[in-house]
Amino acid sequence: MTAVKEMSNFDVNKVRADFPVLTQTVNGKPLVYLDNAASSQVSNLVIERGSKYLAEEHSNIHRGVHYLSQHATSAYEAAREKVKRFINAREAKECIFVRGTTEGVNLVAYSYGRKFVGEGDEIIISEMEHHANIIPWQVLAEEKGAKIRVIPMNERGELIIEEYENLLNERTRIVALAHVSNSLGTINPVKEMIATAHKFGVPVLVDGAQAIPHFPVDVQDLDADFYTFSGHKMFAPTGSGVLYGKREWLDKIPPYQTGGGMIRTVTFEKTTYAPIPEKFEAGTPAIAANIGLGAAVDYLNSIDFEAAAAYEHELLEYATELLSGIEGVKIIGTAKEKASVLSFTIENVHPHDIGTILDQSGIAIRAGHHCAQPLHERFGLPATSRASFYLYNTKEEVDMLINGIYKVKELFG
Ligand SMILES: Cc1ncc(COP(=O)(O)O)c(C=O)c1O
Repeated sequence: MTAVKEMSNFDVNKVRADFPVLTQTVNGKPLVYLDNAASSQVSNLVIERGSKYLAEEHSNIHRGVHYLSQHATSAYEAAREKVKRFINAREAKECIFVRGTTEGVNLVAYSYGRKFVGEGDEIIISEMEHHANIIPWQVLAEEKGAKIRVIPMNERGELIIEEYENLLNERTRIVALAHVSNSLGTINPVKEMIATAHKFGVPVLVDGAQAIPHFPVDVQDLDADFYTFSGHKMFAPTGSGVLYGKREWLDKIPPYQTGGGMIRTVTFEKTTYAPIPEKFEAGTPAIAANIGLGAAVDYLNSIDFEAAAAYEHELLEYATELLSGIEGVKIIGTAKEKASVLSFTIENVHPHDIGTILDQSGIAIRAGHHCAQPLHERFGLPATSRASFYLYNTKEEVDMLINGIYKVKELFG
């Protein structure tokens, strides 16, 4: 414990006051919320913005000439501008609102895949992907007669980059990769991997679901062709999310869904499509949720995000050190570069039992395969327990987790 560094100057108590849910008790104990990789909590700023929209501004967008519709449209488009600045896209139109990462990946697999992937072509993914970044590619591959090639990882849960380089060839049509693994916490060297793919003229989709909430991401610096993430993992409501795509790709690929809002002209003979982003936003979008996402970006801009990232990292190191000192506990995912995910097993105790017992003490963690079955198979495990931290978690909460784990061990001893 002595090796653990002092916590940085980040004022976690000030931040915690912005999250009303954290003040409640669960099973008579203060809530210790460590399931942030699944969904983060929502800040006051987002709650207030959402309430204001619903109470005073609600209307459908892009269609009305009346006051409320114009007001809602401006708020929705302002949220897009905020996202654009947050991820440093070249233009706001490159930021498509989607339901979340799952829809972002499906959109690319369907639209890019439909146009650019054919029989005998290859799609590269990695062994650590979430099912959301596996299945859409499998469906595409089956439909087109294409092949999925998988980048393996080592025992620490790091991608083997030489193997990746060997997989790239003239048949590769796309690489789809997690920026951060939701089960291991590994931060992949996506910038370098994108540069390598580009040498082969291959575009890259980055699944940023576990990255965007935890550290600044610059899509231009990464040179990502597509980058997708979910709002509900970064303080925003469910149903919000973004697919960033370079204009050169978004202009070239066909729409994903069709219907109202995405057209220029319609006759029974032929339809022409609206330009981006509308081309990819058929039907009434999640207006309130995406305005909430804009507020979540405001929130992240209102704090020192770099300091928050450093704080989270210290918290992860602290938890890792304490957890690795417990006999019978094994940490799954020990990459050198890690974000705030700590998956583990306890000898002879099922992860679901661990989760249930911790819940009795008000501690929320996740148990299962975390939508990454191939990854678990790689480690020869059906399931793990996962604690995942965010910038409002504290060292005291880590201590409570560790005490809870000792209790589990005692019960199963
Ligand atoms: C790495 C990763 N990709 C994709 C997803 C899917 O995100 P959503 O369910 O918000 O679409 C998740 C969710 O946990 C994730 O962690």
